[in-house]
Amino acid sequence: MASENTVITGASRGLGRALALRMVELGHQVFAIARSADQLDELAKQAEAGRVIPFAVDITDAGAVEVAYAKIEQEHGPVSVLINNAAVFENTPFVEQSLEGIDRIVDINLKGTLYCTRLLLPYMIERKRGRIINIASVAGTRGIPGQASYCASKHGMVGLGDTLAQELIPHGIALTTICPGGIDTPLWDPQTNPYPGELSRTMKPEELVGLVEFLLNQPTTTLYKRLVMFPTNEWH
Ligand SMILES: NC(=O)c1ccc[n+]([C@@H]2O[C@H](COP(=O)([O-])OP(=O)(O)OC[C@H]3O[C@@H](n4cnc5c(N)ncnc54)[C@H](OP(=O)(O)O)[C@@H]3O)[C@@H](O)[C@H]2O)c1
Repeated sequence: MASENTVITGASRGLGRALALRMVELGHQVFAIARSADQLDELAKQAEAGRVIPFAVDITDAGAVEVAYAKIEQEHGPVSVLINNAAVFENTPFVEQSLEGIDRIVDINLKGTLYCTRLLLPYMIERKRGRIINIASVAGTRGIPGQASYCASKHGMVGLGDTLAQELIPHGIALTTICPGGIDTPLWDPQTNPYPGELSRTMKPEELVGLVEFLLNQPTTTLYKRLVMFPTNEWH
């Protein structure tokens, strides 16, 4: 796929940022969504001029997402690729997790993905064309102690993806859910949230970027519904 209009959520750092830069190299016009306006501006500066357009939007704010999509569609034309990548993570025993922490994880990871998908779908369905790639996690395929809310949110994403992948076939839209294990990104903050192992042995964002690139090059007549991968120092 070349010269696509591509929306990436969570593009201010980590995997989303790496995806944005690669999509630009592949000729996409990228619309980068995250809350940190300064980090998005830096990304836009690093990319080829004008090829990353920042949208400082909190994906839990459905109204703001709707406005951003309308602006993109009116000013830049049809969006054909959506990568739902934004998420937050917390590693804590469930009984110690605050109710605010539960809300934050479910609202961003699950409801944010639902909003970003639901609000873009009418545009894609009208044109019978589109690709949606949801970045879930191995935490969406099994339970991991200390990650109850995160696992619940990612299982929700997997359920959403399994359902929508089927529902969207008649509309010519291909949806894939990617379920990665550990990736070397700023999610693993050494102070607040250290990786429980050797971070250097986790996957590099570029590996996931390569997978997304592969998926975008596949015919929509084949459905890659759910892909699970993890570094060999983890077991899922
Ligand atoms: N790293 C791993 O080991 C790993 C493993 C499996 C799956 N994943 C998944 O991979 C994806 C990318 O994670 P990452 O490792 O790159 O994490 P990261 O470095 O922490 O980046 C997360 C991104 O999500 C954005 N975000 C968070 N809350 C948001 C909100 N309310 N609205 C809009 N954007 C929001 C953040 O931007 P702002 O803070 O600027 O909003 C940031 O750009 C996530 O879905 C994560 O669950 C990661």
